[in-house]
Amino acid sequence: MTASGKHILIIDDEENLRHMLSAMLSRQGYLTDTAANGAEGLQRLRDKIYDFVLCDIRMPEMGGKAFLAAALENRVASPVIMMSAYGTVDTAVECLTLGAYDFISKPFKKDEIEMVLKKAEERERLREENSRLRAVVAGTNGFSGIISRNSAMTDLFSQIRKVADLKTPVLVLGESGTGKELIARAIHDASRRFAGPFVAVNCGAIPENLLESELFGHRRGAFTDASSDKTGLFDQADGGTLFLDEVGEMPPALQVKLLRVLQEEEIRPLGASASHTVDVRVVSATSRNLEADSRMGRFREDLYFRLNVFTVQLPPLRDRIDDIPLLVDHFVARCAETMERSPVRVSPEVMRRLMGYGWPGNVRELENVIERGMILCEGMMTEACLPDALRYAAGVAEADEDLSIKRAEDAIERDLIRKALLKTGGNRTQAARILEISHRSLLYKLKEFGID
Ligand SMILES: Nc1ncnc2c1ncn2[C@@H]1O[C@H](COP(=O)(O)OP(=O)(O)OP(=O)(O)O)[C@@H](O)[C@H]1O
Ligand SMILES: [Mg+2]
Repeated sequence: MTASGKHILIIDDEENLRHMLSAMLSRQGYLTDTAANGAEGLQRLRDKIYDFVLCDIRMPEMGGKAFLAAALENRVASPVIMMSAYGTVDTAVECLTLGAYDFISKPFKKDEIEMVLKKAEERERLREENSRLRAVVAGTNGFSGIISRNSAMTDLFSQIRKVADLKTPVLVLGESGTGKELIARAIHDASRRFAGPFVAVNCGAIPENLLESELFGHRRGAFTDASSDKTGLFDQADGGTLFLDEVGEMPPALQVKLLRVLQEEEIRPLGASASHTVDVRVVSATSRNLEADSRMGRFREDLYFRLNVFTVQLPPLRDRIDDIPLLVDHFVARCAETMERSPVRVSPEVMRRLMGYGWPGNVRELENVIERGMILCEGMMTEACLPDALRYAAGVAEADEDLSIKRAEDAIERDLIRKALLKTGGNRTQAARILEISHRSLLYKLKEFGID
């Protein structure tokens, strides 16, 4: 029995049917009211909020379609289920397109009406669940779209709130996928500049010879391909925030120019005869160890000090596993929304796996695992929906534990190789060195594990 005190309004001009339905639904635990036509039905809706309305189509006074239209116009939230007798099916279908929830053909059997109501209840429950999750996501569990209740992260949030309004440059550090870009946006959104532009540039993704004109702009004719003036990103970000992503990849020649811009708050586009002032807050990010880079001369030390007035160090996901259930909820709800399906439940075994895994790709990897899982699973996310790396991850003890040494070793190896590649930015020779295996056997393993 599922009814548990749900309120149902029955609208039908046939007294017998009203009584029959009312008695039947009451026996199942529903609380019922009745009305003899649409007009009376609207009256009832003014006094009470019903979980569902069952409404006949052909009635004197006010018919079902007119009732539905009026209810929708008055923004009545109760789902209306139409009851269509012989000859009114077309109208019932029309009602569906108007916004009726469902329809059932008369005469119906007892279990048919039960089914329709049960289905409606389930759908409503999911809708509520969805909006609850959305509220959770939007509300107290984080800061500006960054989901976290981990204490190190909430400390970061309060630091960010303090620094946001100043023009102080912020350097965001963290492994790949820890949320550096989200933090940069959050700083912008929390600042007085929030209404101004937020402009992001990946310094590692633009060819060296183009980066300068990207950042500072150029005048027509400044170089061979400069057929017209170009506004640089600094100008585009005027009054707002410029996010220099992967700033550690910036070529040395440009590091000097960037330093000058930051010191003087003026830019000179390529080929321009004069410089002009810009008002830009710079947030930069890198997954490299910029301090070490600057000590070893790979990154200008003076620029490092300039960018690094205020540091935000994002902890890797493996150091904040208390956030994993929250993030899983968040990604499940988001996927459900984009895939237009109901959110799934995550089995306790899966949650245990997720919390025991090392997450070399951090939150982005978790996001991908959930998305993949949502595609593969139905209703419940089980271990079968997890990628091999997680299914055979070491260190998770269980009743049906996989005792294969080979698979466990493979999982560990795969994990270490991924980490080494991440650390070396994909450089295989360096990765092989820290893994203490030969370059050749690394290549072999990459192939074996399908890592690219
Ligand atoms: N705390 C979080 N809450 C919700 N989503 C998150 C969180 N952290 C990261 N994400 C999501 O994970 C993905 C990676 O985040 P982001 O791009 O900010 O990471 P990053 O540190 O800039 O990574 P990379 O170094 O690879 O550029 C994004 O899709 C982002 O929305
Ligand atoms: Mg990034």
